[in-house]
Amino acid sequence: MTLSHPAKLRSVVVGLGCYLPPRILSNADLEKTLDTTDEWIVQRTGIRQRHIAGEDERTSTLGLRAAKAALADAGLSGADIDLVIVATSTPDYTFPSVATQIQAGLGMTHGVAFDLQAVCSGFVFAVTTADKFLTSGSHKRALVIGAETFSRLLDWNDRTTCVLFGDGAGAIVLEAQEGDGTIADRGVLTAHLRSDGRYRDKLYVDGGPSSTRTTGHLKMEGREVFRHAVAMVTDVVQAGFAATGTTAEDLSWFVPHQANRRIIDASAEKLGIAPQKVVITVDLHGNTSAASVPLALCVARDDGRIKPGDLVMIEAMGGGFTWGAALIRW
Ligand code: ACO
Repeated sequence: MTLSHPAKLRSVVVGLGCYLPPRILSNADLEKTLDTTDEWIVQRTGIRQRHIAGEDERTSTLGLRAAKAALADAGLSGADIDLVIVATSTPDYTFPSVATQIQAGLGMTHGVAFDLQAVCSGFVFAVTTADKFLTSGSHKRALVIGAETFSRLLDWNDRTTCVLFGDGAGAIVLEAQEGDGTIADRGVLTAHLRSDGRYRDKLYVDGGPSSTRTTGHLKMEGREVFRHAVAMVTDVVQAGFAATGTTAEDLSWFVPHQANRRIIDASAEKLGIAPQKVVITVDLHGNTSAASVPLALCVARDDGRIKPGDLVMIEAMGGGFTWGAALIRW
C-alpha cells in the first residue's frame, strides 16, 4: 500500500536578484584611517572588503534594484506581486516603510507592503512570514527583500565595529504552488524562528526616535555575541532537520548569515555539514545584516552551485537576540 499525501501549498522560489553599491572599501583602505590591519580583520572575521552605498543611495534604492533584478529573473513584474516584505534595520526614514517606497517604485498600487525588523535575522524572518501568507492561500506571490545601509549606523572611529559591516540588498520572489506535501516538493519545507530579549545589551544601536531622538550608533559586545551565536544557530538548524526528517548529509547547500567566518565554520562543523557545501561571501561583502543571506544565495546561484531541486538551508542570528533557519527545496 502506498501512502498518499494531501496536496499542500508551498512557497516556491521563482526569482532571485541582488544589488551591491559600486564603491568597495577594502581592509587596506581602513588601515589608512583606523588603528587596524588587514591581517587582524581577516584572521578574526574573514572579511576582506565591503560595499558602501553612495551619497545618493538609500536602503530603498538598493532594495528596489534588487527587487527589479529578482522580478526580471522570475519573468514577472510588480503587477504579478501581491505581498512585499522588506527586512531592514536601516530604513530611509522612521516611516513610511521601505517596503511601501519599493512598492511605489515598482509601480504597484495593489497588494500589501510592510517592513520587518529582526536585524541580521530579518531575511529568514521575512521568508518565514511570507511563507505563512502564501501557504494560507491569502496571497499568491511575495517579493521578499533584505536591504541595508549599515554604513550609516556605524561609528567610523570605532575599530571594534566599523570594520565588520557593509551595505547591499537581495530579493527573492516566492510563489504559492501546490505540492504533494512531501520533502520532495519545491519551496519552503520548514522554518523555525526564535528570539530572546534578555540579550538586548549585547548588540544594539544607542539611539532611536523614542529614546534619544537620534539615529545612534551600533554597539556590540563581540565576544559575547560570538559565544551565543554558534549554539543558537545550530539549535534552529537542527530543529529544521528534525521537522523534515533530513540530515546534514541531505543538504546540497548551507547558506548562513555572513557575520564572521569563524562563526560559520564552527556552526557547520558542529552540525556535521561538509565544508564544500558551505557558501561563504563574508570575505566579499562583510556583514550586510538582513541582506547577507540573499546576497550569498545570488553568488552561489550565479556561479552555478545552487540549482533547481537542491536542498538549501538558510540561517541567521542577530540583535535582540533573534535567530532562525529555513529549509528550502530550490
Ligand atoms: N583592529 C585591530 N585590533 C582590534 C580591532 C580592529 N579592527 N578591533 C578590536 N581590536 C582589538 C581589541 O581592542 C582588543 O585589544 P586588547 O586585547 O588590547 O583590548 C583585541 O583586538 C581583541 O578584541 P576582541 O573583541 O576580544 O576580539 P575578538 O577575537 O572577540 O574578535 C569580533 C572581535 C571579530 C567582533 C568577534 O568577537 C565577532 O565576530 N563577534 C561576533 C560578531 C557577530 O557575529 N555579529 C553577528 C550579529 S551582527 C547583527 O546582528 C547586526
